[in-house]
Amino acid sequence: MRPFLFNEKIKEKIQANLLRWFKENQRDLPWRKTKDPYAIWISEVMLQQTQVQTVIPYYQRFLNIFPDLRSLAKAPLSKVLKVWEGLGYYSRARNLHQASQIVLNNFNGRIPDRLEDLLRLPGVGKSTAGAILSIAFNKKAPILDGNVKRVLSRLIAFSNDQRKERGENLLWQISQSLIPKGVARTFNQALMDLGSMICTPRHPNCQDCPLMKLCQGFGSGKPESYTPSSFRKRIPHFFGIAAIIQKNEKVLLIQRPPEGFLGGLWEFPNWRIGRNERRLSVRLRNKIKEEFGIEVIVKNDLGPFSQAYSHFRLTLQVFSCEYLHGNGMGRWISIKKLDQFPMSRIHRELSRVI
Ligand code: ADE
Repeated sequence: MRPFLFNEKIKEKIQANLLRWFKENQRDLPWRKTKDPYAIWISEVMLQQTQVQTVIPYYQRFLNIFPDLRSLAKAPLSKVLKVWEGLGYYSRARNLHQASQIVLNNFNGRIPDRLEDLLRLPGVGKSTAGAILSIAFNKKAPILDGNVKRVLSRLIAFSNDQRKERGENLLWQISQSLIPKGVARTFNQALMDLGSMICTPRHPNCQDCPLMKLCQGFGSGKPESYTPSSFRKRIPHFFGIAAIIQKNEKVLLIQRPPEGFLGGLWEFPNWRIGRNERRLSVRLRNKIKEEFGIEVIVKNDLGPFSQAYSHFRLTLQVFSCEYLHGNGMGRWISIKKLDQFPMSRIHRELSRVI
């Protein structure tokens, strides 16, 4: 593919206008007060799938508890998951933990400043690597997260309905070619801020945009149509039943396998069911008997609990159960200690209704 090149004059205008705008309008964010590559890496991983306002308190708490790479690498995974609890996409926490051990062992505890080294770390893709290289080391490395993809697509009125991969390559080239010498750190963050503050998905605020006159999307009269598949797709809705089985002052929890969805988190026993299934309490009692070898009396229906994950919605119908006899899988955990066990949001809510 032919490299995409802006006319030099236009490129310089884009750079100058964006940098001037950023100087006056940039967001005051906690990770902008540091140049510590470790802290910037943590912030970039948290920001991969989560909004800035949600990330801020997590970032601050995470750095209080794990102030440097060594403290993270030496911590047990369950503690890292606990600090991550509520932020979602828990593989990020597992990858950070594993990557911190790789950096400690192979790079003397220093976050590498070369693209190929960063890309080998679990959880670091090309855009996160670009963000770390530019923000922490001021290297001329491109970024292309969802916001930047949208900004650049609009800038050149590029509808990515051609082959996806080719489209991405083009946007990567543009992202690389726009970075001015010596200010990659500032420029890339300016692109990010423009994407989240002005060049928003549905209703871009073109009148306040420093690139308005240079933007072909604006020129076309329909800038919002150049929005690379960022609108949420419809996701399936799954249903399940869950049991809070109580024995004296303890409840039964299971830990999910370490790899995979919500890996390593603890939860109340639960099973998928069809949408309109009935006689749920009988189903639940039988499941508990078959899979846990435990006899229970199903007591109260505590109602539905729902959570939206990235690829589906889940609604659990939850019942409290009284333990009768039997023993099997799972771990009986004192109700007072439930807070110490990392859980996804829905199960944390259940732990609070006991
Ligand atoms: N999104 C991803 N990285 C970011 C950063 N460093 N600042 C603001 N938003 C971001």
